Amino acid sequence: MTRHLITSAIPYINGIKHLGNLVGSQLPADLFARYQRARGAEVLFLCATDEHGTPAELAAAKAGKPVAEYCAEMHAVQAEIAKGFALSFDHFGRSSSPQNHRLTQHFAGRLADAGLIREVSEKQMYSNADGRFLPDRYIEGTCPNCGYDRARGDQCENCTKQLDPTDLINPRSAISGSTDLEVRETKHLYLRQSALKDQLDAWIDSKSDWPVLTTSIARKWLHDGDGLQDRGITRDLDWGVPVKKGDQDWPGMEGKVFYVWFDAPIEYIACAAEWTQATGRPDAEWERWWRTDKGADDVRYTQFMGKDNVPFHTLSFPATILGSGEPWKLVDYIKSFNYLNYDGGQFSTSQGRGVFMDQALSILPADYWRWWLLSHAPESSDSEFTWENFQASVNKDLADVLGNFVSRITKFCRSKFGEALPEGGAWGEAEEKLVADLTARIREYEGFMDAIEVRKSAAALRAIWVAGNEYLQSVAPWTTVKTDPDRAAMQVRMGLNLVRLYAVLSAPFIPQAAARMLGAMNTLDTEWPGDVAAALQALPAGHAFSVPEVMFAKITDEEREDWQTRFAGIRT
Ligand code: 2FM
Ligand code: ZN
Repeated sequence: MTRHLITSAIPYINGIKHLGNLVGSQLPADLFARYQRARGAEVLFLCATDEHGTPAELAAAKAGKPVAEYCAEMHAVQAEIAKGFALSFDHFGRSSSPQNHRLTQHFAGRLADAGLIREVSEKQMYSNADGRFLPDRYIEGTCPNCGYDRARGDQCENCTKQLDPTDLINPRSAISGSTDLEVRETKHLYLRQSALKDQLDAWIDSKSDWPVLTTSIARKWLHDGDGLQDRGITRDLDWGVPVKKGDQDWPGMEGKVFYVWFDAPIEYIACAAEWTQATGRPDAEWERWWRTDKGADDVRYTQFMGKDNVPFHTLSFPATILGSGEPWKLVDYIKSFNYLNYDGGQFSTSQGRGVFMDQALSILPADYWRWWLLSHAPESSDSEFTWENFQASVNKDLADVLGNFVSRITKFCRSKFGEALPEGGAWGEAEEKLVADLTARIREYEGFMDAIEVRKSAAALRAIWVAGNEYLQSVAPWTTVKTDPDRAAMQVRMGLNLVRLYAVLSAPFIPQAAARMLGAMNTLDTEWPGDVAAALQALPAGHAFSVPEVMFAKITDEEREDWQTRFAGIRT
């Protein structure tokens, strides 16, 4: 049995994430983790907050708090919201953990020993008005690649190009807005990615099964222009992992920290070490997931992220791992996503545009969002959230198809046979046909889930719900009961077994509703339906059940219009 290591891109600590962030990494990663667990695989699912760098410093300054305090508070907030969305992380760590400090300094030491780090005396923006160097995000300006006028010094949000602050046209300070900037000398460390280019190139070439979105972005940075560039991995900031070579000081680097994008992916490893510590496991447990010399040979490692994160995960982080010369686990599959847009524009954290995770939970249960987001995941292209589409999809798929099925069969059984599964006769032709149909559909669903085809999986699952509705509609126990109560009883028993089956199959998408369905069916049996005929006889005659409260309330036009107005503006 494969062991699955699964990581979601770790969200920046500064503030609550919007639904576009959620569907680009944490949510599909959770879908996959839940599915693999349901299939019986051993899973370690990790996520964390990305706490270093300018985003954290700027947000803490804005909140008027010391940055460490701000990060601790926001970590707790993000962890609580993740729980609200039923994100089933085995551990939700922090990139500011002592484990990450140690590992980041360790990797830097190994890379230096391997001759893969060079010291560069470089010119950097200094703000006279602010009295300090302005690294990456402290500078905004026009992107030299696409002309977007709010590009940040580390990356252009619009075209995803990785930038250095000095690349920006018309740069200004993000702290004061001042354009009184001058260039001064400062010394930094560079990771010699260019020395690893051929190795990375061959590695990417070997990944023929990866999504084109992932490999095309990697290839672009490997081959466009002058090819893969060396990358600055230190910054003149106070907050971050202090620059050290292992546990040794690094002469000339006093007062500097590692660049946030250097230590963030290392947190994937550190997070496993945080997990063992938090759960009282021995260290060997996390190494079993991360070191191929310590048992991680049979681990399949899958990463989830939005497209803007792809260069760092296909090139920079693998360069760190390969360059270390140590047997760390490399990623086996990178699932990347396009962007989700919001009602005719972009979701934007900096501009507070769209629906944010806390707001979403304040109006509807997590499953409504999970279902819409996953069934509309921006896989092959960008996708768009509109309130009309959301309303239609919730009302049709969840309320009309699944919810209606559950309510109809449970209520009918209660009224005609009471609150226990009736005995009835043997299956007939319609039931055999249903089993064959469902078997084919479930195998198809598994195929899509294994391949992490999120939208196709959702469509396959919905088709499985529809098949049950069609069965019920065609055998019509409410009619049969008048002439052949025994047969009607058998049909009802089938219907109630379908409710359990649907709970098991749907749990990766809508875990809270699935738990309620299992609760109503009064069972803890969540075995994956290898044998569909057997699965549809799991609940025997005489087994007590109850009628659940309304599974999914329909979204009314008034509610939709109200939310549309409420979330049209800019969140401050
Ligand atoms: O884009 C982001 O939200 C980054 N904080 C993702 C970092 S992923 C990683 F490398 F850890
Ligand atoms: Zn750009």
